[in-house]
Amino acid sequence: MIYKSKFLDPISMNSSCLAIGIYQGTQQDKFFKKMDVASNGVLKKILKTNDLSCDPGSSQLLYDINGISADRIVLIGLGKKKDLDWKKFLKSVEAVIGIIKKTSCGDLSICLPEVDDLYNFSKEAITKIEEMNYRYKTTKNNSSEDIIELEEINLLANKKADLKKINKGISHGCAISEGMTLTKDLSNLPGNICTPTYLANQAKILGKGVKNLKVKILEEKHMEELNMGALLSVSQGSREPAKFIVFEYKAGRANAKPVALVGKGITFDSGGISIKPSGSMDEMKYDMCGAASVFGVIKACISMKLPINIIGVIPASENLPDGNATKPGDVVTSMSGQTIEILNTDAEGRLVLCDALTYTEKYKPSAVIDMATLTGACIVALGHQASGLMSNDDNLAQEIIQAGEESNDRSWRLPLWDDYQSQLDSNFADMANIGGRSAGTITAACFLSRFTQNLKWAHLDIAGTAWKSGPSKGATGRPVPLLMQFLMKRCKQIR
Ligand code: BES
Ligand code: MN
Ligand code: ZN
Repeated sequence: MIYKSKFLDPISMNSSCLAIGIYQGTQQDKFFKKMDVASNGVLKKILKTNDLSCDPGSSQLLYDINGISADRIVLIGLGKKKDLDWKKFLKSVEAVIGIIKKTSCGDLSICLPEVDDLYNFSKEAITKIEEMNYRYKTTKNNSSEDIIELEEINLLANKKADLKKINKGISHGCAISEGMTLTKDLSNLPGNICTPTYLANQAKILGKGVKNLKVKILEEKHMEELNMGALLSVSQGSREPAKFIVFEYKAGRANAKPVALVGKGITFDSGGISIKPSGSMDEMKYDMCGAASVFGVIKACISMKLPINIIGVIPASENLPDGNATKPGDVVTSMSGQTIEILNTDAEGRLVLCDALTYTEKYKPSAVIDMATLTGACIVALGHQASGLMSNDDNLAQEIIQAGEESNDRSWRLPLWDDYQSQLDSNFADMANIGGRSAGTITAACFLSRFTQNLKWAHLDIAGTAWKSGPSKGATGRPVPLLMQFLMKRCKQIR
């Protein structure tokens, strides 16, 4: 899809469809007034029928309006003028796209409302449209039959001075969507295709021809040399070799400390010897969604040319049962030197992450965020609306919460009090890898906190937000919007 900003007269512009917002009450935008006059009052007359509720999301398709060049007009409800924000506007965008789908329109022009926040209105509209148009294609034929076949979408400005904000919104929206699409594509792939080796190869492909992106792949032999005993204890039960993927994206000042992003990359989680029940086990192909979000962010940053330094770290492995697999009760030594009693081989995410977090220290990052489909308990606690956030730094936590609010990709903080740490006590090692039945999301983060004492660190448990189950099963692309918002603000691309 091509998105353009335009400053044109909506009355005389040639378009197969013109979408125009309508507020509840009598106060309408200039766009509407102009078009109403051109149509000799027809639009106002239509509103008088009250067939259109004008709630955000309501809509009415009209043909052949005298005095207006466009083939079709869609009236879209925006609710009360004083209450309009981009979240409500998205409902309207969704409604327009729903209508367009049933037509044979080749292009669409959306009259933007008279608001100040046109950057976010434009950015979020594009992210929404791209999301509605996403189809997984890699292993499914004819999956793109019902996509919107528009060639061009125009965002119409009320005044010329608005074009700058709109253009920025369009370019950021397109870049973030590109990143999310990559995240979804990788996440949705089945485990037999998306192995650790596949991810490593995709990482190399992403780095190809990009000057400020270096991609390093560490093999198991190298992980042994680094004493990554926790990570290797997970991959030892699999015939697929683990891969440790490192992205070095350097588009910021040469000496600026990087932000490190660490993504859990379990390409399939059977639970290992502590095997999972078989119902919905297929969804454990999504246990690499954290890794996929690192890919998505790097992709979006490349596309946006975001001037920042980022280190992306992905410990990638399968978790399978095998004659050589780790057994409950086994004790392993992590890269940090701390020993771990593995009481449950299904708590494998923290095992691959702890070594990745220790590895990250060498980059002296200004902040580290890890993204992981870490605990089923997080879905119980927060559902599918918010990612779980835990951090050892209040400012960083606040920054992340704020970024999530602003990007429609929310997280909610859970405590990381010392009081929980004793749940990880072990008689046979420095810590156990599970903390019992209560506060499972928090004790998982407590485990990670023992490897991040020298770092400003935040952990996002995305078990409930990274994918959807049921008939619309599929990856969501979260938390790419949150992370991009965080990064864009960090390097002052937006306020
Ligand atoms: N990948 C799972 C967490 C998960 C489960 C995410 C279901 C989304 C849906 C993780 O590796 C896991 O198995 N966690 C265990 C931890 C437990 C053994 C302490 C869990 O949540 O049951
Ligand atoms: Mn598991
Ligand atoms: Zn897992």
